[in-house]
Amino acid sequence: MKISLEFQLLEATAAEALIVPVFEDRPETRFGAPELAGEVTGKPPEMTLLHRVPDLSAARVLLVGAGKLEKFDPAEQRKLAGAAVRYLKLKSIGCVSLALDPAHASAEFAQAAVEGAILGDFDPDAYKTGEKKKELESFTVVAEPPGQRLWHAVERGRITAEAQNYARALVNQPANLLTPSAMADAAWATATEFGLECEVLDREQMSALGMNALLGVAQGSDQPPALIVLRYQPPGAPLKAHLGLIGKGVTFDSGGISIKPADGMEKQKSDMAGGAAAIAAMRAIAQYEPPIPVTAFIPCVENMPGGHAQRPGDIVTAMSGKTIEVINTDAEGRLILADTLAYARSQGCTHLVDAATLTGAIVVALGHLRAGLFSNDDGLRDRVLRASQSAGERLWPMPLDEDYKDYLKSAFADLANTGGRWGGAVTGAMFLKEFAGDTPWVHLDIAGTAWLEDEKPHLAKGPTGIPVRTLVSLALDWEE
Ligand code: BES
Ligand code: ZN
Ligand code: MN
Repeated sequence: MKISLEFQLLEATAAEALIVPVFEDRPETRFGAPELAGEVTGKPPEMTLLHRVPDLSAARVLLVGAGKLEKFDPAEQRKLAGAAVRYLKLKSIGCVSLALDPAHASAEFAQAAVEGAILGDFDPDAYKTGEKKKELESFTVVAEPPGQRLWHAVERGRITAEAQNYARALVNQPANLLTPSAMADAAWATATEFGLECEVLDREQMSALGMNALLGVAQGSDQPPALIVLRYQPPGAPLKAHLGLIGKGVTFDSGGISIKPADGMEKQKSDMAGGAAAIAAMRAIAQYEPPIPVTAFIPCVENMPGGHAQRPGDIVTAMSGKTIEVINTDAEGRLILADTLAYARSQGCTHLVDAATLTGAIVVALGHLRAGLFSNDDGLRDRVLRASQSAGERLWPMPLDEDYKDYLKSAFADLANTGGRWGGAVTGAMFLKEFAGDTPWVHLDIAGTAWLEDEKPHLAKGPTGIPVRTLVSLALDWEE
């Protein structure tokens, strides 16, 4: 989709359709308002398509319900653009303009509109052979008063949302195609295209580093594991901080010997959503070139119950030297992340943020609307929260009191990999905390938010690409 920005009168924009917001408390627009009184309420996501509006270059006007004026924020703008694009693409309308509301014509709104359009344009139909949903040809943001900042905003929205769609497409790949090696190939391709350094550690290299917690998970599968490392080094003088992004890359989670029930197991192809988000964020960061060095670490494994699979009761020694009793082989994410956190620290990262579809318990706690945020450092927690707010992704801070550690006691090793029935999202995070050591660290549990169960007006069902926008904002807006 071609993205552009125009400064001109709405009447003069040439498009197959011009998207115009209509507010509940200001339902009249410049376009055919009086005769629509009562018919147009301005409630989202109401759509009214008008044809042959007098004195207008655009062939159609799409009036879109935008809600209350004072509640209209970039998140609403993003949804509005997405819903409009999804509505228009069903009608095979390919060249679209969107009117920025004059009262909301800032950079934040322009960026959100572009993101909404690109995200709305995505459909997970890559594997359908019949009729596919047509993608939009062009999307133009139209602003009446010119403003230099809008150019940057539109470009930032494009880079960010294209990266997010890249993550969604990767998550949508089934596990027979997206093996750990295929994920490494995708990382290589990204690195080559956008000028990142890429390194992939194989089983032997990981074994030499003592990553037995990670390798224990991988041993039940015929697919060899891969630890992807993507490095971004800023062109000028780098900041002192070095950000490490870590993403869980379980290409399929059967549960292993502690096998999962059949119902819904197909969705465990998305257990690499955190890893996809980390690769995607690096894509955007490489294009944007912020002054902070960023390295991404993505441990990729398939969790399978093969003849060599690890068993409940097995004890492994992690890279950090700690021993772990594997009570449940389905708590595999924390095992691979334990060694990856240790490795990221050894590579000089000063701040760590991981994203992982870690626990079903976070879905019980927060549902599908917010991802859980856990941290050992208030400063980094606040940075990530701020980034998520400006990016329009919803997180919620969760506790990590020291005594939750008691839940992870093992009679035979330093730690057990599960904490019993209660507080499952917290004990999962508490386990990771043991491996972050004294490095400031944030863990995002995205098990409830990585996959959208039901289509929304502005978003297709399936992978959401969360938390790509937060990770990108964090790196781009980092201030020392
Ligand atoms: N990948 C799952 C978590 C998950 C569940 C993601 C549902 C998406 C949807 C994770 O590896 C897992 O199996 N966690 C276990 C941990 C338990 C055994 C301590 C869980 O949540 O049941
Ligand atoms: Zn998992
Ligand atoms: Mn699991």
